[in-house]
Amino acid sequence: MGVILFSKQMNNIYNQLKSPFTVLAPLDDVSDVVFREIISDCARPDLFFTEFVNVDGLQSIGREKLVHKLWKTDGDDPIIAQIWGKTPDNYYKTAKELVKMGFAGIDINMGCPDKAVIKNGCCVALINNRELAKEIIDATKAGAAGMLPVSVKTRLGFNEIDLTWHEFLLNQNLDALYIHGRTKKELSLVPAQWDVINEIRVMRDKISPKTKIIGNGDIKNKAEALEYATKYKLDGIMIGRGIFSNPYAFGEDFKQWEIKTSQDKVGLYKKHVELFTNTYKNNQRNFSVLKRFAKVYINNFDGANALRESIVVQKSLEDLSRALNNWQE
Ligand SMILES: Cc1cc2nc3c(=O)[nH]c(=O)nc-3n(C[C@H](O)[C@H](O)[C@H](O)COP(=O)(O)O)c2cc1C
Repeated sequence: MGVILFSKQMNNIYNQLKSPFTVLAPLDDVSDVVFREIISDCARPDLFFTEFVNVDGLQSIGREKLVHKLWKTDGDDPIIAQIWGKTPDNYYKTAKELVKMGFAGIDINMGCPDKAVIKNGCCVALINNRELAKEIIDATKAGAAGMLPVSVKTRLGFNEIDLTWHEFLLNQNLDALYIHGRTKKELSLVPAQWDVINEIRVMRDKISPKTKIIGNGDIKNKAEALEYATKYKLDGIMIGRGIFSNPYAFGEDFKQWEIKTSQDKVGLYKKHVELFTNTYKNNQRNFSVLKRFAKVYINNFDGANALRESIVVQKSLEDLSRALNNWQE
């Protein structure tokens, strides 16, 4: 009698999305489960990311302090979990959990330029430690066990543009590669270099045609995303700070934000604060992260500056809510 071997099939989100697809960038303390709901109601991208979450913290007694970064609702799907850290075994264990949690994929952060992170040899520092980068990718893939696609988000290089890094990554059999078009040294101080992203895409065509390439850097809205994806033959475009100036950035009709009234804008902020209040209990997330959203919602209307200034000085969630509720045109 023959033995039938069942192999579990990966549901690869990257093969299901129509190119070019749009992605909301991981934005620490910004793109949480609350903000994603707001963006979904305005105009959602094709794919969401979580904020980056540290695998070493997740697999330690400090887990409770971090795990909310992986909260998601059905409305977030499809969503990629972004992870970072130092220890391959913790990537393995976390990837196994992410499969069970229903994420659409796992992304490894190899781009964050934070000084403390680099000192610890993580994220963008992995450009200079390819042995560990490979171990991390292999451990993540082993944990994902073929059930979830694995990608890397990275920059153009450490101090200089370094295409040997992308060549190395393209030889790791990744499902996708997200390229932020600046080096670590450049932080976000210079314009993103899309011609270099294009060079990496050309390299991909030769080395690893199945790896999707998603470009990232300075894109403001869906129209620009389509323009850049077409010009550079990319599979997708990731938008980060563009969302700060327009919550409708991912919509066909992204210009509608320009004609929203002050009531609409303050109303959206109030909704955000209310969702935050209902989501996080017992100080799970510090309320002060809400202050940075003042610049997202409160702009381009009479009295916007005064309202923003009154918000950023608030010392508690209750006071911040009160300041918003007391606002009158
Ligand atoms: C507030 C903030 C938080 C960020 N957090 C993350 C993060 O958690 N993971 C990550 O890969 N990149 C993070 N980034 C980088 C963005 O994802 C993105 O690569 C960068 O902002 C460039 O894209 P943009 O020019 O469209 O903003 C962050 C950027 C900002 C401004």
